[in-house]
Amino acid sequence: MTQPPKVAVLGSINMDLVCTTEHRPEPGETVLGTGFTMVPGGKGANQAIAARRSGATVQFLGALGRDLFAPRLREVLTDSGVDAARLRSLPGASGVASIVVEAGGENTIIVTPGANGQFRELDADDLAAVADADILLCQLEIPVETVAAAARHARAHGTVVLLNPSPVRELPAELWGDIEVAVVNSGEARRLGAALAAVPHVITTRGADGAAYRGPDEEVHVPSPKVRVVDTTGAGDAFTGALAAAWQRGPERALAWACAAGALAATQLGASASIPDAAAIAGLLGNTNAEATGRY
Ligand code: RIB
Repeated sequence: MTQPPKVAVLGSINMDLVCTTEHRPEPGETVLGTGFTMVPGGKGANQAIAARRSGATVQFLGALGRDLFAPRLREVLTDSGVDAARLRSLPGASGVASIVVEAGGENTIIVTPGANGQFRELDADDLAAVADADILLCQLEIPVETVAAAARHARAHGTVVLLNPSPVRELPAELWGDIEVAVVNSGEARRLGAALAAVPHVITTRGADGAAYRGPDEEVHVPSPKVRVVDTTGAGDAFTGALAAAWQRGPERALAWACAAGALAATQLGASASIPDAAAIAGLLGNTNAEATGRY
């Protein structure tokens, strides 16, 4: 039995304010909603929970504000078994995401970063967690300089850097040089273009069409299991966190695992609330071996 991978997730944590509606409003239009829910989210927290539910040992590096949302946001990580000792508390508001989910499951999201945007310093304990991890998993809802500093430290200590460059933006060339694995959707792949060419392992998610892998020696396409879509919010995060947990199994098996995680996440409303555990993923894959149940 091999050890579960150690994943350090550096990223955002938000309170998601989710309105469901038949169709989203056009500019200047008011529409009636069909429901409202408040659920913890943030790409970093969602991916941390996804990696944990897929069997990895996970440490979260992030920032909360000092507001009503903060205790619930911390709790969702600890309740999921994510180590939140490196989750600092900064003055001001926590991150908030305003999300509109249409009847077909598509969403639009506005993120107000709050404390995530103030997370600019990594201390010695953060850097030790990065150096100790097998994989550093990052997104772009915190300042790029923080991601770049962590990635540099990770690479210097033999920790694999996996970047999900979302929300997409231009990145410094030095940061690209530290990335070993990138997970992008089709739109991000188009936007990033040539920058991705230098990344050794690139995974492109294609929603219901599954995901494609391009590595130094092979290309692989894995279809997604068919599911009834309720809400796609957090499906990419479920994919990415599950992929990080399964990366050591090799691209083809890791992609199949991640596609199943993403598909299951789309069947329920709410980002962190919809992230499947290893048993559910294994069930969807029809896989009964010990590895697929998250027991390593
Ligand atoms: O990827 C989904 C996430 O994006 C939401 O949970 C929201 O908080 C935003 O960060």
